[in-house]
Amino acid sequence: MNLNEEELKQLEYLDILKDIIAEKEKALGRKLTCQVTTFGCQMNARDSEKLLGILLNAGFVETEEDDADFVIYNTCTVRDNANQRVFGRLGALKSHKKKNKDMKIALCGCMTQEPSVVEKLKQSYSFVDLIFGTHNIFAFAEYCVRMYSENKQIVEIWDKTDKIVEFLPVARKYSFKSGINIMFGCNNFCTYCIVPYVRGRERSRCSEEIVEEIKSLVKDGVVEIMLLGQNVNSYGKGLEDEVSFPELLKKVEAVDGLERIRFMTSHPKDLSDELIKVMAESKKICRHIHLPLQSGSTEVLRRMNRRYTKEQYLALVEKIRAAMPDIAITTDIIVGFPGETYEDVLETVDVIKKAQFDNAFTFIYSKRTGTPAASMEDQVDEETVKKHFDLVLSTVQEMARTRTKRFDGREVTVLCEGVNEQDDAYLDGRMSENTIVHFKGDKSLIGTFKKVKLTEFHGFYYDGVILE
Ligand code: 5AD
Ligand code: SF4
Repeated sequence: MNLNEEELKQLEYLDILKDIIAEKEKALGRKLTCQVTTFGCQMNARDSEKLLGILLNAGFVETEEDDADFVIYNTCTVRDNANQRVFGRLGALKSHKKKNKDMKIALCGCMTQEPSVVEKLKQSYSFVDLIFGTHNIFAFAEYCVRMYSENKQIVEIWDKTDKIVEFLPVARKYSFKSGINIMFGCNNFCTYCIVPYVRGRERSRCSEEIVEEIKSLVKDGVVEIMLLGQNVNSYGKGLEDEVSFPELLKKVEAVDGLERIRFMTSHPKDLSDELIKVMAESKKICRHIHLPLQSGSTEVLRRMNRRYTKEQYLALVEKIRAAMPDIAITTDIIVGFPGETYEDVLETVDVIKKAQFDNAFTFIYSKRTGTPAASMEDQVDEETVKKHFDLVLSTVQEMARTRTKRFDGREVTVLCEGVNEQDDAYLDGRMSENTIVHFKGDKSLIGTFKKVKLTEFHGFYYDGVILE
């Protein structure tokens, strides 16, 4: 593997960090502990694996406790409640730090790309030692070295980057499955969304590099990968040898030993016939697509800048189902966008029923400073939003139950993902369609595929028994 200049530089910093941590370990007579907490999406989860990879390599041991020697919050700012949670938890960390003067606290992720957040941290949260952004997460080892040698708050926020730095140590949460970034940023500027401002413009990784990384993951025991990007359907634009997303999928499919492919997230406006064809013909791409609807009202969609109508969305769902009748389609819905009326909400309910979603994440609209929607007139009052939200949520839940019930009694293949939290004689497995199955099994099966018969439906998951 050819490492680029930045990767080599960061590995040098990692060596320096190892020495620093070894010295501290000697002085304390114990290992230093670290905790990385992830807020938000799959992209953040993947970034956290990179942060933890650096720390474990440097000599830290991971802990779940809040009083670790080094606590890192990888934040999300898509909705304000995630933002508030971080500030709440930071308050609690302050008291831990009073007891352990050597404790270090770092904040990174989407929240830190907002100037108002950084200002607040500088003013009122001086006990946070390190603040860095989404564009320079690769320099974490370098910033840690500085954090342990300089005695002041370090703030390193970039407003963009053209660098893609990927080959640094990663501590994967699961040995048998992994996310992999195929692109960063977003160019869509949906009017409610802060992502294009905090994650920057769309940049794709070249396909050879992606395939090479997948091959090395497979060699390492990975059987399922999730290709990650804010809008995977526009993958490849601007690359020297333009490779489309369906073409990338074909290259990934050809990797020997890889069994399952997932991807996230698809924008309906860019989902091509070619993609549907490649999925339908594929043996490895899972029968699940996450296709955010946001609203069923064409007028709201227009003001959201989604660039499709209700009818176009429904036609797309029909096309996907015609090619793959059993596929699970999930979605995201926002309730309470400025100007949304009861009639608009009924349009959303209508789409949920017609599209027959297998599941949907329903969000209350959250006003994000700096986005066009924040200054739109007719922000909807809380009470009305709550009523609309309850209606959408109950429709979604009823639909999800009815849809998922179609698997009742079937024999399906699941990937055994872990021990069930309620009963350790049971395992949790995941179907290609993303539905979870609980069944009796030994933990030695984790990471393998098993045939199970679905015996009892519980609303959104199944009980099953192993067949072989
Ligand atoms: N308010 C509520 N939900 C939002 N999302 C993005 N921005 C906002 C916002 N301002 C939701 C969208 C997106 C998902 C990741 O988060 O539904 O698909
Ligand atoms: Fe946000 Fe829209 Fe980009 Fe998704 S596609 S990240 S909702 S701007």
